[in-house]
Amino acid sequence: MRPTDAGVIARYRERLPIPHNASAVSLNEGNTPLVRLNSLSDDQREIEIFAKVEGANPTGSFKDRGMTVAISMAAHEGSEAVICASTGNTSAAAAAYAARAGMKAIVIIPDGQIALGKLAQAMMHGARVIQIAGNFDQGMEIVKAISQKAPVTLVNSVNPFRLHGQKTAAFEIVDTLLRCPDYHFLPVGNAGNISAYWMGYSEYLETGDLARRPVMVGCQASGAAPFVQGTPIERPDTIATAIRIGKPQSWALAQAACEESAGWFLGRSDEEILAAQRHLAQNEGIFCEPASATSVAGVMLALGESAIPNGSCVVCTLTGQGLKDPDTAISQCPEPQRVSPQIDAVHDAILD
Ligand code: F0G
Repeated sequence: MRPTDAGVIARYRERLPIPHNASAVSLNEGNTPLVRLNSLSDDQREIEIFAKVEGANPTGSFKDRGMTVAISMAAHEGSEAVICASTGNTSAAAAAYAARAGMKAIVIIPDGQIALGKLAQAMMHGARVIQIAGNFDQGMEIVKAISQKAPVTLVNSVNPFRLHGQKTAAFEIVDTLLRCPDYHFLPVGNAGNISAYWMGYSEYLETGDLARRPVMVGCQASGAAPFVQGTPIERPDTIATAIRIGKPQSWALAQAACEESAGWFLGRSDEEILAAQRHLAQNEGIFCEPASATSVAGVMLALGESAIPNGSCVVCTLTGQGLKDPDTAISQCPEPQRVSPQIDAVHDAILD
């Protein structure tokens, strides 16, 4: 592949609603690894579990897939500025792609509730960062209202181009596995991504690239689990700040994906989410952020409840890179040992 042929628009253009004369604003996103999770797969039961490692995208999360399409279209339509509310990853992607397009980015984030790496990204890419003393859901209402009256393009996943970009992850999974997974687990916050995957699998079904679609399982943090509770919630709370969301914007689409696929939503506690994050880091060599580990915590629950039949192929999406949230990672690990800079001292310490 030539470098200019990389990126989800170059690779899947005919499946995206982009005019021929629109040029792609791309950072060569997509084409992320699909890694077999050996520690969770079960040879005897012929259960294979794979992780779609979306943290390998240019800004470290799956948001790049949607942002390349949303920003390309905003640029094509002559927009000079974009706006979003974000728990961190959308703001990082919006800031990076806007910088690449020569556009202004305005990002609204919940005060004190975004991981440090994501804040650094938005700031470094030159976005106008506004912190509100409120949560993501309040930020969403504000940016929806502002984009109605000011000349700025809204690039949250209510922008339909975002979902079209994100659906390409489903295409890649099928193109790599050369089959349809039986189950697909993914973290659910604002509910755009589960809707996008379902759109991708459904489009492959329509064009005959698939004979059936996977069962979709939406994984939420118990403290921010409106789908599990069946109703929006006012004060979501979880250590997985990326999915600290009580009023998902794509509620109806996500609900439909779950129902049409005969899937379900589940909730996992913060402890279970962090245990899954550590499990991946320490047994698979994959460092994902806490919200991403929710999908693996969900797989672990389903395996424990024998909800996954023998012979199944399971994919879980790891939505974001662990380096984005160093504080949460460090807080769950033992402190590095401090010793004097002498061979004997270090020798003693490592034999301890
Ligand atoms: N995982 C990560 C790492 C995320 O950043 C998000 C959403 C999700 C999962 C949930 O995806 O919203 O499509 O259901 N982050 C948004 C943001 C809300 O602002 O970065 P979803």
